[in-house]
Formats: sequence, C-alpha cells, structure tokens
Amino acid sequence: MITVHPSPDAVADAVADLVADAVRARPRINIGLAGGSTPSLTYERLSGRDVTWDRVTLWLGDERWVPADHPDSNARMVRTTLGSGAERLIAPDHELGDPERAATSYATRLAAAFEPSGGHPDLVLLGMGDDGHTASLFPGTKGLDVMDRDYAAVWVADKNTWRLTATFPLLWSSERIVFVVTGHAKAPVVRRILEKGEPLPAQRVAEGAADVTWVLDQAAAAQLT
Ligand code: 6PG
Repeated sequence: MITVHPSPDAVADAVADLVADAVRARPRINIGLAGGSTPSLTYERLSGRDVTWDRVTLWLGDERWVPADHPDSNARMVRTTLGSGAERLIAPDHELGDPERAATSYATRLAAAFEPSGGHPDLVLLGMGDDGHTASLFPGTKGLDVMDRDYAAVWVADKNTWRLTATFPLLWSSERIVFVVTGHAKAPVVRRILEKGEPLPAQRVAEGAADVTWVLDQAAAAQLT
C-alpha cells in the first residue's frame, strides 16, 4: 500500500497514529525503529501520543558503529526525540568493542524480545536512502548476502565505517513493514523502486515481506506517474 501526504509533518502525524494504533491493538508489541533523520519528526509526534509504553519493546533496524552518546547514533536520536518511550529501547552494545560481537549479542537479545510475538518482528519502520539502501543494507555490500543470521556487522566502504543491520531474513519475517520516505531527493529512487521494481535493497526487503506500507510525502512521490 502507498499513502502520500502533503508534507513531512503530515507523514510524521500519520506514522505516529499508525504506531499508536498498533500498540492499542495488542497487549504486547515489538517495534523496529528506523534510523537517520527522516523519522525523528515521527518520534517527536509519537512522544506526545497517549501510548501505553510498557506494552512495547523497541529495537533498531540498524545502528552506526559509534558510542551510544555519539551524534551519529540512532539510539541517541531515538532517546532525544521519543521522550519516555525511549526507555523501552534495546540497542546494540558498542561497549562490546567489536561490531561482529555486538551484532551477534544483539541478535540474541532480539530473539528473546520477539519470543512473545512468536519469534518475529511485529512492526518495523524503515527509511530509505537515495541509493535505495534501507537499514544498513547498502547496494554492493556484504550485508546483502547474509541469509543465515538476523543481524550483521557490515563494512560500508562508501562511508568508511562499520554498521550493524537487520538482515533480509529478519526483515522478511516481520508481520508488517512501513517505509517512511520524504523529500525531493528521494523522488527518483522512489520511482525506480515503486514503478520500475529495480532490485535495490529497499525493494528486495519489500518484495519478500508479508505486509508493506509506503508512507511518502508529495515531494518523495513527485516522480510517480
Ligand atoms: C541510518 C538509517 C538509514 C536511513 C536512510 C535514510 O542509520 O542512516 O537507518 O537506512 O533510513 O539512510 O536516511 P535519512 O532519513 O537521513 O534520509
């Protein structure tokens, strides 16, 4: 399903409503959070919604390999936008000192968190880069080949950094995926994926998932016919 909204603010309100409704609909829920800059508006809106946070376990679709208080940390972005909800976040542990160890340890913690939901993610919010990457599944990186684990450490040469990311198998096992994409810069890649079906990482996630919603603003949807 594709929904298009007038502005990034309207997208943030729509996704905050979607998450709040999902929490109300069941006694317990795990929610994967997108990183980057787009979702911060959504998390700010969500911090003002009436959400029973103790029903919720939050986790990260990906994380940069930086300390938890680093400006690039997705966990830090969540903690500075989501208010009390951020207390429900479980995040990778940079203090383990090695990205592979941190990814493995995180996957174990996620498996325990998913147990009440039958061992899979319930709802995952994902962003998308203008190259079609999502989470930290970047075109041309080894993370795209990881099919035997739920979370992986990947070296992203273009960014000269390690990233930790949910893998295709984990994302494909999710009950629902919601892509949140705004801004003119994303319009070309939105068209490449939604109209041309180019097998970029975000398209491959969508293709293998059970229930996918794209929440776009008019700018990001501008090149859709
Ligand atoms: C990250 C994200 C990444 C993000 C896209 C879009 O850690 O950066 O998880 O996949 O969603 O890069 O980022 P923006 O929202 O900043 O455009």
